[in-house]
Amino acid sequence: MRGIKKNFPGVVALKNVDFDLVRGEIHAIIGENGAGKSTLMKILCGVYPYGTYEGEILLKDDLKKFQSPRDAKESGISIVFQEIVVVPDLTVGENIYLGDMPKTRLGLLNWGALHSESTRFLEKLGLDIDSHAIIKTLTVGEQQLVQVAKAISDEPSILILDEPTSSLTDTETDTLFSLIRVFCRAGGTCIYISHKIEEVELISDRITVLRDGEKIGTQNTSAISRSDIIRMIVGREIKEMYPKVSCELGEVIFEVKNLSQRKKEDLQDKKRLSNISLTLQRGEILGISGLLGSGRTELCMGLFGILPDVSSGEFYINGSRTFIGSPKEAIQQGIVLLTENRREYGLIHTMSTLHNISLSSLHRYRRYSILNHESEKAGGFRMVDRLKIKVPSLDTVVENLSGGNQQKVLLARWILTEPKIFILDEPTKGIDVGSKVGIFHIINDLVAAGAGIILVSSELPELLGMCDRILVMREGEIRGEFARPEFSQEHIMHMAMGQ
Ligand SMILES: Nc1ncnc2c1ncn2[C@@H]1O[C@H](COP(=O)(O)OP(=O)(O)OP(=O)(O)O)[C@@H](O)[C@H]1O
Ligand SMILES: [Mg+2]
Repeated sequence: MRGIKKNFPGVVALKNVDFDLVRGEIHAIIGENGAGKSTLMKILCGVYPYGTYEGEILLKDDLKKFQSPRDAKESGISIVFQEIVVVPDLTVGENIYLGDMPKTRLGLLNWGALHSESTRFLEKLGLDIDSHAIIKTLTVGEQQLVQVAKAISDEPSILILDEPTSSLTDTETDTLFSLIRVFCRAGGTCIYISHKIEEVELISDRITVLRDGEKIGTQNTSAISRSDIIRMIVGREIKEMYPKVSCELGEVIFEVKNLSQRKKEDLQDKKRLSNISLTLQRGEILGISGLLGSGRTELCMGLFGILPDVSSGEFYINGSRTFIGSPKEAIQQGIVLLTENRREYGLIHTMSTLHNISLSSLHRYRRYSILNHESEKAGGFRMVDRLKIKVPSLDTVVENLSGGNQQKVLLARWILTEPKIFILDEPTKGIDVGSKVGIFHIINDLVAAGAGIILVSSELPELLGMCDRILVMREGEIRGEFARPEFSQEHIMHMAMGQ
């Protein structure tokens, strides 16, 4: 790709980017949220057609003018997008061959051939997933792997993966990596976008760093240190990844006793919450650790009043018994949840950034039921500034923000409601290294101001770095508790895995 420039209203997404690929390599593209990574890839795979950007795409010296993703696919370029786009009610096999299903001679769909072919294909890739399974019954990680399989089934020469591991377990990530390696050994080339630097170091041959729409450089992965990578990404040194400031812990502000879910046929038993009890103190950051599917997200939903089939459970806020039957009740009592699944539960994609931020605090800007737009805006500006949300204007539709910046908008919404209890489910998922530190500073500010925080994260170093206490979940139960002086990565991991 040569001299690529791309503008959106009010934003220069790519300024003049050159990017080259060598056959057979795994080439990582990294950079801050909004740096232009996904945009560059959408140009390469025809989502933004020729004519809507400046510059050239050359495949082996052939100038390509893709008008659509279909054109790009025909030239051997396949992409797996940042957000999951499988069809939830179809089977795995149908999803893989969607668009070009095997037909019988009479032109009818040949279901037998479809499943035997996709079974063979999944086996070849080393994926232990049933072709007949309905997609929505799979874990998010498995769905993501099916998406990758689907992309590989097109037999592309260039495979683009935009943050493929954000919802994968460690084992699934290993599976993905071997899949990529097999693909590249057979002559394929892979572009790999991720915010997880350890992963990029492990899987890539070369790294290209983008910042603010510009290419900062391309390096051989083996020739560059982690701190150099971080410096290239954020443009400065980061001294402390986990800037924990311990503050004095106060009284218990939130307590849950014996939260359980009823047994249900279609609910995997190990995910069902049973007998969860916990306390949260003023000024405390309480970590929840556990493997994907251990019930962490269910717990968050339970504390926020959106868990189906709750059979028992008592909630206490500041010592008095209370009921939390819906998110509305939770918010009224000063509890907020930053969900892991921002697409489904959080953002209203077609609304402006401002409305998404102010949505839950509108009452504050209302007087005699008249909305004071000026103060609503002022609140919005304060949040954009404080969280460093990269957005051309408050009127920009949230859908047009980069993935990481959407996450920040959601966090901004909750901070604005001034809650006392924050439940943060994977708050740094999809967030760049620099902004992660920014979010940790905000967490520090929140507890210093007297809030309590329940922090769920798959990244153990994050919990070890920031929490006062860590609870370990496994199969819907809390299996253990560690206070900060006893933190040990190894012990927590072993407990989470049930060893
Ligand atoms: N359709 C669009 N309309 C308007 N602006 C857009 C659109 N798509 C992207 N942008 C803007 O272009 C810039 C680059 O966005 P892009 O999605 O490429 O970032 P990214 O590097 O993929 O970030 P992330 O790591 O958060 O996914 C951002 O400022 C974003 O807000
Ligand atoms: Mg992106």
